[in-house]
Amino acid sequence: MSLSNRSTLTQYLIEQRRRFPSASGDLNALLLEVALACKSIARAVAFGELGGVMGDPGVDAVQGGAVNVQGEVQKKLDVLSNDVFVRMNEWAGHLAGMASEEMEAPAQIPAPYPRGKYLLVFDPLDGSSNIDVNVSVGSVFSILRAPEDVIESGRDVVEADFLQPGAAQVAAGYAIYGPTTMLVLSVGNGVAGFTLHPNLGEFVLTHPDIQVPPDTREFAINASNSRFWEPPVKRYVDECLAGATGPRGKDFNMRWIASMVAEAHRILMRGGVFMYPRDTKDPSKPGRLRLLYEANPIGFIMEQAGGRASTGRQPVLGVKPTGLHQRIGLVFGSRHEVERIERYHHEP
Ligand code: AHG
Ligand code: MN
Ligand code: MN
Ligand code: MN
Repeated sequence: MSLSNRSTLTQYLIEQRRRFPSASGDLNALLLEVALACKSIARAVAFGELGGVMGDPGVDAVQGGAVNVQGEVQKKLDVLSNDVFVRMNEWAGHLAGMASEEMEAPAQIPAPYPRGKYLLVFDPLDGSSNIDVNVSVGSVFSILRAPEDVIESGRDVVEADFLQPGAAQVAAGYAIYGPTTMLVLSVGNGVAGFTLHPNLGEFVLTHPDIQVPPDTREFAINASNSRFWEPPVKRYVDECLAGATGPRGKDFNMRWIASMVAEAHRILMRGGVFMYPRDTKDPSKPGRLRLLYEANPIGFIMEQAGGRASTGRQPVLGVKPTGLHQRIGLVFGSRHEVERIERYHHEP
């Protein structure tokens, strides 16, 4: 395939940076390190069983098997991917600290590496229940600016430094390890999608300005939780299921991949609405997905693509976080559907 009329990720980032003549280039360098981490994970995923990284941990070289702070048994690839993210991003001097689904406390930038002005928050492997069945998984990341006193003093980061609303994100994105590997990101100026060229090992710009269609006939929800749904969610799904003769006057299609990244990608490509709403399944968990490294980056991407992301009650990007691993109800995708679901939550 000829590249003559296509940009690479590097080229795209340089062009985006021209909007800010005084920018240092740190953000771009950081994003390229994140992209490299994603390429490395893509290779591990592609080797599958041959790479000895599948399944539950414990049996060979790649460690895992511990229970993470979420109470989930870590897959080998959860642990390996987390390690790749940490090792590939800690040395370059762009970060003040990192936080991840797989680490209970924030990771410090160890000596002798210099500390920088950004915070990197990530879910290194999303949809990890899909690994063993060879279905798409992904990585999600969010970049925040560290508080000024962290930047000035170079002190260790603490949880509170990360508790910034999603609207404060400087950049966010995901990689999807599917039939092709893609990187989709936003630096706050729309959403661009890059396809990994398998021979060159470069992310090539293939989807320059992704827009989520405002209307859809496709929804995604884990229907096995229906007995725990709140009334507005029940109403919305019932109306979709009623089809052409119901109140919506059209038939809907349903999908559930069990990998939020893959669902987000489908919605960016052709519209749709995704719901993992707050439910009554476990009163200690107000939702399934995690605010800082799942809901916020995907919310940022959706809003930048003209879609919408909500808790069901309010825009997700406006929520002030209270904990690093806090969970939240999440609804995102085609704008008019998300607005309808919010309306149902507000109606008496
Ligand atoms: P992770 O693999 O990072 O722990 O996240 C899994 C999440 C998300 O990707 C997906 O949408 C959801 O969990 C799947 O939930 P169900 O198991 O209820 O289908
Ligand atoms: Mn997990
Ligand atoms: Mn996840
Ligand atoms: Mn994960």
